[in-house]
Amino acid sequence: MAMSEKTKTALSAAVDPMKAKEHEIIEQYLEQLHADYDPVYSMLLNYECAVMEVETKFNILNNRLSIQGEHNPIESIKSRVKSLDSIIRKLEKLNLPIELESVEKNLTDVAGVRVVCSFVDDIYRIEKCFLEQEDVTLITRKDYIKNPKPSGYRSLHLIVQTPIYTENGKKDMFVEVQMRTIAMDFWASLEHKLRYKKNLNPRTAEELAEELAACAEESAALDERMLRVRERIAQD
Ligand code: GTP
Ligand code: MG
Repeated sequence: MAMSEKTKTALSAAVDPMKAKEHEIIEQYLEQLHADYDPVYSMLLNYECAVMEVETKFNILNNRLSIQGEHNPIESIKSRVKSLDSIIRKLEKLNLPIELESVEKNLTDVAGVRVVCSFVDDIYRIEKCFLEQEDVTLITRKDYIKNPKPSGYRSLHLIVQTPIYTENGKKDMFVEVQMRTIAMDFWASLEHKLRYKKNLNPRTAEELAEELAACAEESAALDERMLRVRERIAQD
């Protein structure tokens, strides 16, 4: 079932009643929202399931690989399902119809799993084991570790498809996996926060962008050093 224009309006009316002129109109919208609620809820639940499936895969890999190696390759896993609000905004940005089918077909980052690893080589080791699994299909791979973004951003991005099993049978779901080290995560989190500060004068903005890119370089150098420390410990 499509998520209609009415539902969309109802959603904003529901969160911001001041936007609705008449109480009656809100009631009408909420009625429509209720009619559309189940399919929307069900879709978000499917993404929650996909996130849980992928998280479990990484947790199992972490356990197995830590038995073989000397440390836990995964430091932490953070997951999220995009909010309905952000889903609608993204569809609008991409000029796509505001419909459930459109979300499932076109958006590959509704389900997101961020895997924070201890060392850079852990990322590639975990990636290999993850992609070797029969029910994980790689759709796209962007290696922003080997090719950092101009901002300095580093991470390995995978879009995969993996099945979930619902009351209506098997369903293939897109999941975005971001893999990075603790240092890359530290940089990305702070840079993301700083980017929210708008209305900087252009010169300051340019200087700060350069400064942040330099911080990313230093952070990457630190990752390299830590890796060498670990190797020396292993050789000793
Ligand atoms: P989106 O429309 O944002 O999803 O872009 P895209 O489909 O081209 O994907 P991309 O590979 O650029 O990665 C998008 C995601 O990576 C974002 O949602 C962020 O989580 C992260 N990301 C990408 N670039 C940066 C950056 O410069 N800084 C930070 N902090 N995060 C970034
Ligand atoms: Mg995204």
